[in-house]
Order: sequence, then structure tokens, then C-alpha cells
Amino acid sequence: MKPIPTLEAASGLRLIMRRIKAILRPVDFITDRARQYGDFYQLKLKNAPPTVMTSNPQAIENIFTASTDKFEVGRGNKMLTFLVGDNSLLLLDGKEHKNRRRLLMPPFHGESLQKCSDQIVAITNKVIADWQPNKAFTVRPVMQEITLRVMLSVVFGIDSGTRYDRLRELLTALLDIFNTPLSSSFMFFSFLQKDWGKFSPWGRFLLLKQEIRQLIYAEIAERRELLASGTSGLRDIFSLLLLAKDENGEGMTDEELHDELITLLFAGHETTASALAWLFYWIHYLPEVQDKLRFELDSVGENPDYKTINNLTYLDAIVSETLRIYPIVAGAFGRILTQPISVMGYDLEPKTWLMVSIYSLHHREDLYPDPEQFKPERFLQKTYSPYEYIPFGGGNRRCIGSALALLEMKLVTTTVLSRFQLDLTSNHPLFPVRRGLTLAPPSSFKMRIKNKLA
Ligand code: HEM
Repeated sequence: MKPIPTLEAASGLRLIMRRIKAILRPVDFITDRARQYGDFYQLKLKNAPPTVMTSNPQAIENIFTASTDKFEVGRGNKMLTFLVGDNSLLLLDGKEHKNRRRLLMPPFHGESLQKCSDQIVAITNKVIADWQPNKAFTVRPVMQEITLRVMLSVVFGIDSGTRYDRLRELLTALLDIFNTPLSSSFMFFSFLQKDWGKFSPWGRFLLLKQEIRQLIYAEIAERRELLASGTSGLRDIFSLLLLAKDENGEGMTDEELHDELITLLFAGHETTASALAWLFYWIHYLPEVQDKLRFELDSVGENPDYKTINNLTYLDAIVSETLRIYPIVAGAFGRILTQPISVMGYDLEPKTWLMVSIYSLHHREDLYPDPEQFKPERFLQKTYSPYEYIPFGGGNRRCIGSALALLEMKLVTTTVLSRFQLDLTSNHPLFPVRRGLTLAPPSSFKMRIKNKLA
């Protein structure tokens, strides 16, 4: 058997220092590791199963195409239970995972996106309705307001009302607890997860989570009544989940429904908000990119439909490059082997964790020459395989919201550009910082409204 290049992991204080670097300077940490140890290596921690880290396209193909019974993923995602509960898709495996995905996928794909597209444009217009020239604004809250409203509307089918407003406020407040690299530490060090009352971060998190829970349970009870009386003709995801039955004819419990709804809300809006903030940064940091985009938009005339926007080649390349250079999720979910498999000729034992580094893959010089440069053209010149370009992961865990996220990025951008000219308040380059489990532009990133166009 070929031996795998192995890195004996640090212990004690050195281990803690490494973790702190991974939390506070995630990009440096990932880049240094890839530079030092290459694209396929094993990490050995004391008293823990081996972890294989890879950013090699062939290894990624082996992992994403392996039979799904060779891995479990839910156990690896256990650290997310505090946010999404025990019944979330993220925590499921095997048949349960497959059935839940089958239920959740259709509303995020195909023709269902047409309905979403009207909502996305209407919501964007509503959020930017009061924008005035010469005003500066912080980018993240704006993008987050748009994407949260979109997710609430797509998932819950509601976009107004006291419960909706309160839910929006609470979800935003809850996620803002993780808005700095330091506060993100709660996720990684369980000893920090201590309830010291409502003024302590963890205490505040628990209070907000409890109130969100009560609101969602109240909404579930109301929907169940409506469905029982036959008065609900709702076709949103919430109603689909309420109506779904397993093979024994059993519907989902309130707890299962709550956990799935929370999963979609969190997974769907945080990520897309960061992606949109980067997209706005790049098209304003590089004026030539914006010029080409505006030229492409002019070529389709006024009020193009969502399919036309979705098919614009340069816009598509900008979106792809945005998610390449600074992927929002730096690594795919850990895959824990349940059976031996061979990856790139190495025999891997059960219990091994397989970690795919999206960031390092996207920064490979052999695939992406000048990887630190933002060059949408690379996506016009070459088609990347699903093992070379993976902002949404892959295999049976590939993101279920990818089509919606891409469409949202395109529609929000084109809606804003058609009505305003913006610029950056500073020309200093931005680099990703940790935001919870994701990488995002710094929360201080600001832009200015230059002109109103329409
Ligand atoms: C730019 C935006 C987004 C990015 C970059 C992103 C990225 C990802 C990644 C990397 C994964 C893990 C895949 C793997 O391990 O192979 C994932 C999973 C997932 N994403 Fe997204 N995502 C985005 C938007 C969304 C949206 C809009 C939704 C809501 C519909 C969503 C829902 C999910 C869910 C439910 C999973 C778990 C899938 C499973 O376990 O089977 N994501 N996403």
C-alpha cells in the first residue's frame, strides 16, 4: 500500500494557536497549509481518526462519485446542531437523506425559479426604494435584507405581517452574533457556549433562538389548521413539507419541520448575501468589468425576462469568478468513511475523515493561472469540470439551493445596476474574513450611491 504523506498534528498550546489562526486568519491558514503540504495529505491528531485533506481534482472526483453508502456526513455536521437542530437535512444520511432531498429539491429548480425570480426583483426594488445619491451604505446589511426576505418568501410563502417582521428581526440579530471572526469562536470552542445571561453572547443566542422557535411553531400550528380545513392553496416549501408523507404514511413532526425550515433559512440567505457583497465589490473595484457588464446588459434592451438574464454569458462568468476567487464555504462537508475506499491509489480506512478544500482547489495555479486575479474571462475560455470548480460542493451533498443562489446573484445585480450607479468608498483591496462557518467580505465594507439612473 502506498503511504499517504502525513502531517503529525500539533498538540497542547500549538494546537490551540493553530485553531486560533484558522479562525482569525482563515485564508492565510488554508494557503500556508496547501503551500507546505500539497494537495493530498493526511493529518494525524492524537486520539482522533485520521483526516485526509485534499484539493486534487482527481481525488475530488473519486470522493464525489463514490457510492454514497461509503460515507456518513451527518455525524460530521453534528457541530451545527446548536443552530439547525437534530432533524435537519445537514444531519441526515442514507435513505432518510435521499428522501428529504427529493422533497426539497424541486422548489429550488426548473420552472419554480420563475416564480422566485419575480419575488427577487420585487424585493430588491423594495429594499433600494429609498436610496438617494451621495449616500454611503454598508453593503452586508442591504444584501442580507434582500436574501433573507427572498428566503422567507420562497420558503414560507409570506412577505408581510407582524410574525414575518419579527422573524426577520430575530434571524438577523441571531446571525449578527457571529459577524466578527472573534465571535465566530463560539462555534469552534464548546467551552465558550455558556449561558451567562442575556448580555453574554451565548445567552443572547439562546434567547433569540427560543423566540424564533416559538414563532415558527405558531406558524406551523396555523398552517396545519389551514391545511386541515382545506382553505390553504399555498404552494410554498413550507406547505410541501407539511403535506409530505413517508412510506408509512407518516407526516413530519413539528420538530422536524422546524429544523428543516431553519436550515433552509440559514443555509440560503447568509451564503447568498456574502456572495452578492463580493459581486458588488468586484464589479466596482474593477471598472472595466462593470463596463463590459453594462454593455452586455444594454444589448438585451429594457425589462429582459429572468431567462435572458440567467443566460447572459459575461454576467455568468462574473458570478462564477466571484464564487471561485473567494468561495463562501471554504471546504465541503466532511465525509466520514464507513467502508474502505481507494482515492488516487491510496487505500483509506473506515473512520477516516475526508475534507475537500474548495478554497485551495479554486486557487490552483495549474487550473487557474494568476489565481489571485479576478478574471471572469477564464470562464469564457474554458469549461471546468465538477471536480475542478466546486463552489457548491458535489456528489450527493451538493448544495440544493445553487440554482436559486446563482439566479438571485444575477437578478439582484442587474436590478440595482439598472437603477443606480454606485462606487466604492475606499479603493483598498478587501480580503475574506471568517463569518461563522463561512468566509465573507469584512462587515465594514461600504459603498456610495453616485447617481440614480431610473
Ligand atoms: C452562494 C450561495 C451558496 C453557497 C456558496 C452554498 C454552498 C454550499 C456548500 C459548499 C454546501 C456543501 C456541499 C458539499 O459538502 O458537497 C452546501 C450545502 C447545502 N446548501 Fe448551499 N450554498 C449557497 C446557497 C444556498 C441556498 C440559497 C440554499 C437554500 C435553498 C442552500 C441550502 C443548502 C443545503 C440544504 C445544503 C445541504 C445539502 C445536503 O446536505 O444534502 N444553499 N451549500
